[in-house]
Amino acid sequence: MVPPPIEADLHGRTCVVTGASAGIGRATASELARLGARVVMAVRNPGKAEKARRAIAKATGSDALEVAFVDLARQDSIRAFARELATRHPQVDVLVNNAGIWTGRRQTSPDGIELTWATNVLGYVLVTHLLRPQLEAAGHARIVNVASRYAGGLDLTDVEFERRPWSGGDAYRQTKQANRMLTWALARRFAGTGVTANAMHPGFVSTEIFGKGGGGLGLSLSLYAKVRARRPAEGADTVAWLAASPEVEGQSGLFWVDRGEHRCRFRDEAAEEELWRLCHRMVGSSTS
Ligand SMILES: NC(=O)c1ccc[n+]([C@@H]2O[C@H](COP(=O)([O-])OP(=O)(O)OC[C@H]3O[C@@H](n4cnc5c(N)ncnc54)[C@H](OP(=O)(O)O)[C@@H]3O)[C@@H](O)[C@H]2O)c1
Repeated sequence: MVPPPIEADLHGRTCVVTGASAGIGRATASELARLGARVVMAVRNPGKAEKARRAIAKATGSDALEVAFVDLARQDSIRAFARELATRHPQVDVLVNNAGIWTGRRQTSPDGIELTWATNVLGYVLVTHLLRPQLEAAGHARIVNVASRYAGGLDLTDVEFERRPWSGGDAYRQTKQANRMLTWALARRFAGTGVTANAMHPGFVSTEIFGKGGGGLGLSLSLYAKVRARRPAEGADTVAWLAASPEVEGQSGLFWVDRGEHRCRFRDEAAEEELWRLCHRMVGSSTS
């Protein structure tokens, strides 16, 4: 069923969307631009980003699209991005942590961290941590963490698969569990500040993520995705709805699928806090 159009006016609001060069992130940036927001497209590939920016501008008529460069697998790049963003935007109304990968072979980031964990988990953590002053300055900011129903297998004693055999699917799946658990920990920290944090599942969406690795399933999964999966705009619907709709004003610490709240099986405050401390140690920030 096609959901009704999102009713919201985002003129005057600044929204940061990571991974806005492709897939769900690009479709989210487009929808937020359609609703009138100034959208900062946080991306790593200049050529691809400019192509996406022009296409979104043409489709929405928006002249308020900005491209900002960041490699979310590199902590120095995230820090430089956050410094630059702070000079341009003292307030951030919406942060969509979306950029993610699923690789076919084990790789490490320039910081020496298993790449899926570095990108999908530490990327979300460090961006959110560094943008916290601007989010709080907005007064009513919303953080939307793109997670997944395909989640599980997190081992807090071996998040980089140093003891366990690595597979692209297992590495990806545990990051999506971590995205949810960290959202619950984040929501606790923002309680009473007006800033909300929610996690969501976009559905099975035909994007580039399956072509890039697909956990070794590569071609067959990307072909299956083309036939069976949703289009990126459908996957982005609940992301944009959580970012913009008055219907979810003030709601925080919840897991959403197709604009509906769903129970999350990964709720364990002690484990969430342990994960929070681990991640903040890995990005070299305080755990407050
Ligand atoms: N597709 C699905 O069925 C599905 C289901 C559940 C959850 N999700 C989640 O949805 C999110 C978006 O995925 P997608 O399906 O839209 O995949 P996608 O089409 O591959 O898009 C991923 C985006 O992340 C960016 N990115 C990856 N690594 C980056 C890095 N180091 N620095 C900066 N940007 C980086 C990519 O940039 P480039 O364009 O430069 O590569 C791209 O813009 C992910 O968090 C994924 O886990 C997807």
